[in-house]
Amino acid sequence: MQDEVRALARERNAVILAHNYQVAEVQDVADYVGDSLGLSQQAAATDADVIVFAGVHFMAETAAILAPERTVLIPDLEAGCSLAASIDAEALERWKQENPGAVVVSYVNTTAEVKALSDYCCTSGNARAIIEAVPEDRDILFLPDMFLGAYLERLTGRRMKIWPGECHVHAGIRPQDVSRMMEERPETDLLIHPECGCASQCLYAAAHDAKLAETTHVLSTEGMVRHVTTSKRSEFVVATETGILHRLRKEAPDKRFYAMSEQAVCRYMKQITLPKLRDSLREMQYPVTVPDDVAARARGAIERMVEIV
Ligand code: 13P
Ligand code: SF4
Repeated sequence: MQDEVRALARERNAVILAHNYQVAEVQDVADYVGDSLGLSQQAAATDADVIVFAGVHFMAETAAILAPERTVLIPDLEAGCSLAASIDAEALERWKQENPGAVVVSYVNTTAEVKALSDYCCTSGNARAIIEAVPEDRDILFLPDMFLGAYLERLTGRRMKIWPGECHVHAGIRPQDVSRMMEERPETDLLIHPECGCASQCLYAAAHDAKLAETTHVLSTEGMVRHVTTSKRSEFVVATETGILHRLRKEAPDKRFYAMSEQAVCRYMKQITLPKLRDSLREMQYPVTVPDDVAARARGAIERMVEIV
């Protein structure tokens, strides 16, 4: 079926973009596998006629905004995101009215309507640089992930108003999982996605323990890939969605990886399967479009995200 998918992709002049959380057989057939930032950059740069997005809906919307002249397809419209669903345009409009003059920084896990009301978008890969680009004298409304927000406050020393949203997968990785793993595998590097509920606790612990400071790394999914390929260590505990393990094992086959929690599985990411990818290319389903006025307003915030790295 992978051969069939590749043949259809050639026929359609399509590029297949897959997120690091996709199932192994989808990652293996993609033209590019990466994090939210990398996928957006690929979508903006491609000259293919069709972009098939093996990821979740907000990512396909972002691609549609960045590449309005391409056809963007998602193999299953049910591939949503609990974090993106935690705030809608109406709620953000109200929050802005309560905080006039504040700069709105939205994590990329948001709908196009929410992006259209934002000044900047960011991903976990460049959130720090974006926050640091906001003039010191401006208030910041950061949304929708409270754990990423708390982590950024600690990192930049900047106080922000933070929306109380969370991703059910990352929030489900508990401090107890970290303590257990650190006891079981004291010699490993700890790779933590900043959407995790345990990220702040780990940083706090690392700030008070020199050994932990050396082994604790808060990274985007692509940051994790870069880290393991350059690190001298040979074992890593990974606190994020378990789909990343396939990518890490492929990029660093001589190293060993352990999931912080085997339960960290995103059912939305796993909606995309190889047969659905094949059907998507065969039937040109399901197109993802964003109304012109919303796209025009969202584009500025997304372009700033893609530029500031
Ligand atoms: P990144 O791949 O950008 O680190 O994001 C993780 C995520 O949860 C996307 O939904
Ligand atoms: Fe959304 Fe969480 Fe799934 Fe990422 S892992 S797509 S943030 S629900």
